[in-house]
Amino acid sequence: MKIITTKTALQQAVSECKKQNQSIGLVPTMGALHAGHASLVRRATEENDVCIVSVFVNPTQFNNKEDLAKYPRDIERDAELLGTLGVSYVFAPTPEEMYSEEEMEQTFEFDFGGLDQMMEGKMRPGHFNGVVQVVSRLFYLTQPDRAYFGEKDFQQLAIIHYMVERSELKDTFGRLQIVDCPIVREASGLALSSRNERLSADEKQTALGISRTLIASLEWAKNMSVEQVRQRVVDTINAIEGLEVEYYEIVDQSTLQPTGTFTHAIGCVTVYCGPVRLIDNIKYN
Ligand code: PAF
Repeated sequence: MKIITTKTALQQAVSECKKQNQSIGLVPTMGALHAGHASLVRRATEENDVCIVSVFVNPTQFNNKEDLAKYPRDIERDAELLGTLGVSYVFAPTPEEMYSEEEMEQTFEFDFGGLDQMMEGKMRPGHFNGVVQVVSRLFYLTQPDRAYFGEKDFQQLAIIHYMVERSELKDTFGRLQIVDCPIVREASGLALSSRNERLSADEKQTALGISRTLIASLEWAKNMSVEQVRQRVVDTINAIEGLEVEYYEIVDQSTLQPTGTFTHAIGCVTVYCGPVRLIDNIKYN
């Protein structure tokens, strides 16, 4: 496994792979890797000749400076894990290598076909512009055949599908396939997240109330309306000391618009556990 820190070296490695007709799988990450990332990487190594993992805490997708400063970083531990997974290249650039000063100020603007108007897009203005800015750059640099993303960030995944399949940029991505990978949970039900590292042992215990409530809501959905289930999820989580719901929306899995039926619906939640902002979701069918 080779660790690359410059765009030029990455493009050289990619052009060598292309010369040899090797397929490339890309797993974009912000590091602080856990078993959820490992599942994406395993799939990418199985399905491609070469697997590239990017490890880059992208400043332009953080609308909160404190959140950016506190985001966990440990490239040595990440490299150790990736070394056991059959990864060919790790791309770990500095922010200065990725962006000019001007780009860092996030001038990038993208049409998301309305998919950014709700949930994370509404709560974190500019967030998805930053995500698309970095992801489209990573696609350009690595020219992947497939790119792997987790379903925990469901809205992000919907926006990336839109960018590659339906946006005005779509022709620049060739035949790139976006591969959706299911949420990985601890045995307790807690969705794996790099942000879990910021939870104390007690907070981690408290956070279990999120997945427990989402799973219980599958039963509630059998004889309650969408709005009743939505409200009950919010009330149940808020009743747990230490948790505070920012939003719970039950939306159509394709349009992300609020829906009145459970068919093709997904419930997306954001909850503060102390100072840590956690997201999770559940599909109703
Ligand atoms: O999901 C993430 O970790 C990030 O948003 C991504 C896709 C790596 C872009 O920085």
